[in-house]
Amino acid sequence: MASSMVFVLLKLTSLFCISFSVAASNSSPQHFLKCFQRTTGLLSTSNSNVIFTKNSSSYTSILQFSAHNLRFLTSSTPKPQVIVTPKHKSHIQAAVICSRENGFNLRTRSGGHDYEGLSYVSHAPFVTLDLHNLRSIRVDVKNHNAWVESGATVGELYHQIAEKSKSLGFPAGTCPTVGVGGHFSGGGFGTIFRKFGLAADNIVDALIVDVNGRILDRRSMGEDLFWAIRGGGGASFGVIFAWKVKLVPVPSTVTIFEVTRTLEQGATKLLQKWQTVADKLQEELFLHVVIGVLDATENSNKTVVVSFGALFLGGVDKLLTLMEEGFPELGVERDNCTEMSWIGSVLYYAGYSSDESYDILLNRTQTWKSFYKAKSDYVKEPISQTGWEGLWKIVLEDEAAVMILTPYGGKMSKIPESEIPFPHRRGNMFGIQYTTTWEEEEETGKHMKWIRRLYSYMTPYVSKSPRAAYLNYRDLDLGINSNNGNTSYAQASVWGLKYFKTNFKRLVHVKTRVDPSNFFRNEQSIPIFMPRGKGN
Ligand code: FDA
Repeated sequence: MASSMVFVLLKLTSLFCISFSVAASNSSPQHFLKCFQRTTGLLSTSNSNVIFTKNSSSYTSILQFSAHNLRFLTSSTPKPQVIVTPKHKSHIQAAVICSRENGFNLRTRSGGHDYEGLSYVSHAPFVTLDLHNLRSIRVDVKNHNAWVESGATVGELYHQIAEKSKSLGFPAGTCPTVGVGGHFSGGGFGTIFRKFGLAADNIVDALIVDVNGRILDRRSMGEDLFWAIRGGGGASFGVIFAWKVKLVPVPSTVTIFEVTRTLEQGATKLLQKWQTVADKLQEELFLHVVIGVLDATENSNKTVVVSFGALFLGGVDKLLTLMEEGFPELGVERDNCTEMSWIGSVLYYAGYSSDESYDILLNRTQTWKSFYKAKSDYVKEPISQTGWEGLWKIVLEDEAAVMILTPYGGKMSKIPESEIPFPHRRGNMFGIQYTTTWEEEEETGKHMKWIRRLYSYMTPYVSKSPRAAYLNYRDLDLGINSNNGNTSYAQASVWGLKYFKTNFKRLVHVKTRVDPSNFFRNEQSIPIFMPRGKGN
């Protein structure tokens, strides 16, 4: 009875999706281990500290080490059959070949910061390829570039640059534990992106392991694939082993300030002005906004607090002049400002003191871990006073609500939408990230409901057709691939157009060419064009 059921199931599924029938036939950790041993020549995989099965004593600690969102570390979350922590690029090649051969889904993890846990969770039997051992960085000061392996964090990259030069920097994100692999392949912005663009805009070469286990550089992968992995998400196309990036010039002195106002102190009026000027300020000046909830104290009720934080690539005198010209209402004074080095500003935005030793950037241990959910939006028209006031009512309902408003403009407006897959350029005044965090699993439903309501409230105030979103703020609410990842173009367009706009179609073309069997797939991987009559 049971075997005839399996036969019918395999027969049925083989009509729709080859990969499932392969997975059902022979995916076992033992077969994978044998294949890995054979392919790499590693004599004893159990002693090599490269492969971990559920029986390995360090399996759980390796799995949890960089997994950032507790929402995906619960007892019911599916776990990988095998974790591979390559020490050499040949181990990546073997992981790709052996996952294919054994019908495993492969999830690549660099820094583990995917908001929806896609690098370490899959609902099909899977292998997690964790690249944290592959993190060497070679900075070439003379030629203003660096090779960085995907398992490095942005903190390690900043550290290595600072070790070699005081006048070079790199425009990536502010959280030092974010991995280069996911961050670069999804875009990557930080405090100097209005001047220099995204991390992905500053990549000049890459090494990728493709679906056949070959290692390709920019020349051998071709310009289409090289285009796709700079903002289209690496996970759909292969495993990116390393990136060559262009370093950017930074002055010896930069200046930061932070000015905080509550609603009672006129925060809404300031925000209304901010949204009309922030994307037009000189591109050396980054002035973002962080919105949160201030608990009730003896003297005041619970309220919304709005913090205006700046980084200026220059000294305090020039900054004060620019603020006086562009946004005098904020009332920034010399006392609000601190001059420091660029690496000092990296520390400051990472939450450390700017004069702390930058060795702290080498710490890969997560400074905080919690359950969280995030969503994103882009704003093209100023939000009305009524819009802000309605928003405050919702924000005040979740004590852990945080919204970060990131000004665009500057260099971001000068780069064409189709230059790389990241399309959010001219016409965007600012991006929004909404987040909420919590400590207990039981609270998940409440917070998820809240953030979805907030997102729904924002509909009239944000971009439309499509309502755009940032890939690196992954949000599975936007839609997921059906049929074990072998979804149709039309279905995937629901989320694909939001992340990539018209670049989505080109991504599907590239994907269809380089991975026609759709081996590299997840809930939001780029689909392949299926043959006629199969749903496109
Ligand atoms: P992770 O390893 O989870 O990978 C993310 C995705 O990329 C997965 O789909 C994974 O399979 C794939 N992937 C990873 N490595 C790959 C490789 N070598 N080859 C192919 N595919 C690969 N963003 C931003 O732009 N600016 C910012 O300042 C911040 N700040 C920030 C702070 C915090 C606390 C978090 C949690 C996140 C951010 N982000 C961010 C978002 C961040 O850029 C995003 O989550 C990145 O995808 C994380 O990359 P990781 O390698 O850490 O994640």
